[in-house]
Amino acid sequence: MISLDKLIVEFDKGLRTLFAPAPTLRALPGSDLPDAELSAEEKHRTVSLMRVDHCGEICAQALYQGQALTARNADVKAALEQAAWEETEHLNWTETRIKELGGRTSFLNPLWYTGSLAIGALAGALGDKWNLGFLAETERQVEQHLENHLGRLPQQDEKSRAILEQMKSDEVRHADTALQHGGAPLPLPLKGMMRLSSKIMTKTVYWI
Ligand SMILES: [Fe+2]
Ligand SMILES: [Fe+2]
Repeated sequence: MISLDKLIVEFDKGLRTLFAPAPTLRALPGSDLPDAELSAEEKHRTVSLMRVDHCGEICAQALYQGQALTARNADVKAALEQAAWEETEHLNWTETRIKELGGRTSFLNPLWYTGSLAIGALAGALGDKWNLGFLAETERQVEQHLENHLGRLPQQDEKSRAILEQMKSDEVRHADTALQHGGAPLPLPLKGMMRLSSKIMTKTVYWI
């Protein structure tokens, strides 16, 4: 059973994820690289891509939070907490870069956060094997999606590239961790549904 105290703590976490600046221990990747000259169109494109990545990290916070609420095994919980912390750093990095470029984060973040929290809690309730399988698949899809964004960033924007590269390598590690802890491969229709929902997120958040 989830206690009222726990619910209040989780609600507070949600508010902080959505409305307070995220902390980071690692330095912003690429902060030592020079600022590139970007045209108005290039700046707009980069901010839009970063806004999608930022929303993805908001979803990651909610997913990990939901899973931690229901995960059973202490080892699994500890592994999820470490990955969740790195997702918080990703949140910080993407938000920082969006601000540097004079952009804004998505108005739809609360909506995607709520949906992801429910999905995370559901995956957690199905047991660690499926919970971790779902996590590994999510991380793999995020990795592919970051790869796609790396190809769409303006060639000269090394700062944004450094952030996405570091995130991508973290996501690969998160997926491996989930599999090492016993994540099961997901059925194909479920993978397809996950792809579809992430497509809806990326298409809407790019603009809104
Ligand atoms: Fe991430
Ligand atoms: Fe991740």
